[in-house]
Amino acid sequence: MPHESTPAPGTAATAPVFSPALTPEEGHTAATTLFREVFGTEPDGVWYAPGRVNIMGEHTDYNGGLALPIALPHRAHLALRRREDRTIRLVSPQTRETVDVLDLDAIGPKGTPGEVRHWNAYVAGVAWALEQDGLGPLTGFDAALYSCVPLGGGLSSSAALEASTCVALDEVCGLGLAGTAQEPDDAGRARLVRSCVRAENEMAGAPTGGMDQSASLRCHEGHALGLDCRTGETTQVPFDLAPAGLALLVIDTRAKHSLVDGQYGARRAACERSAKVLGVQLLADIDVNGLDHALARLAACGEDSAAELVMRTRHVVTEIDRTRRLIALLQEGRPLAGDTLAQVGALLNGSHDSLRDDYECTCPELDLAVEAARAAGAHGARMTGGGFGGSAIALVDADKVDEVARAVVAAYAEAGFTPPAFLNAVPSAPAGRLA
Ligand code: GLA
Repeated sequence: MPHESTPAPGTAATAPVFSPALTPEEGHTAATTLFREVFGTEPDGVWYAPGRVNIMGEHTDYNGGLALPIALPHRAHLALRRREDRTIRLVSPQTRETVDVLDLDAIGPKGTPGEVRHWNAYVAGVAWALEQDGLGPLTGFDAALYSCVPLGGGLSSSAALEASTCVALDEVCGLGLAGTAQEPDDAGRARLVRSCVRAENEMAGAPTGGMDQSASLRCHEGHALGLDCRTGETTQVPFDLAPAGLALLVIDTRAKHSLVDGQYGARRAACERSAKVLGVQLLADIDVNGLDHALARLAACGEDSAAELVMRTRHVVTEIDRTRRLIALLQEGRPLAGDTLAQVGALLNGSHDSLRDDYECTCPELDLAVEAARAAGAHGARMTGGGFGGSAIALVDADKVDEVARAVVAAYAEAGFTPPAFLNAVPSAPAGRLA
């Protein structure tokens, strides 16, 4: 997999390093070549699925709220060939010396004897989950992965693995649910999302909420996906920044980020506790107009964690409201300039501040990236994804991308942080097959 060049230790980074997306041709060639070299035959095809950045609506998915992700041009590519037996053989550029061999009849959830390690859990896990969800029986398969979604960057490299596996198996096993990237079967894809989430929750043990998998399978080019995470209903929201002279700069902090350590799960548990105390099914049931009343009840609930529950709930309810307002603004279709642009920027900034102060899921690297980007002229900036590391986004004038990136690099150098990496986020196509 391509890697950004890292400046030698002790050398101050000056120029921003951008992580390019592979072109479809490059992705096709890289995955096919690896497949041929390792398995000595041709794959049935090459399928891909994108990483994502979330524009707004963070930590709302498992609360039944709204999110607004876009698909990235950065994709996981999977060259895959169906087998007649139940064996799964997996390889990536990093593991080509030791192909992993699994048995579809023997694999099982994390913590059981069938537990699957590392990235294999996402790929084999999808086959397992599809069968668990009644979409089998499937067959085994050989697959070679070549991904350019930065690993651990909070850009859903794991959801890209799941979604690429899903669309590949959908086709070679004849499930008939995905349609094509150009003409997606959205209802079918909503079903596939559920199996991808199951793979992530049960096989990989990450208690995530489903926004990433929906983004990878259900986004459309040029649009952000207005996602109601309770009902699964979606709206395609126009989000083409280039005509407005704008760009979305992604800043990968390179700070460690993991969804399987305890912090993500602890936030989710606090939200579930709040909902229980408030007598609602999900925090999305709390209307922003009734927030003060709800917070007063939580503050008086007598639990040791009352203050924490107040903060987490305030973030979730105000974040859902910010997302609703942003979707409405974008759907009005007014040019992203002047007052409209200022409103969008304020919503992005409000989201970050709430994630930092109330949800406490940022980190010094994320906060500094956001502060430096804002100070260098970004219209708005916020962390994106699960937090505790990972990436931030900044809405900037297209001709200022480099200037803002340089300002972040300089701020990181001054703070003694590992130099960040950057990418340009253009709303791209959902998972599909490469010609
Ligand atoms: C991670 C999870 C998602 C979502 C976000 C926060 O990306 O995988 O389900 O909860 O964090 O919005």
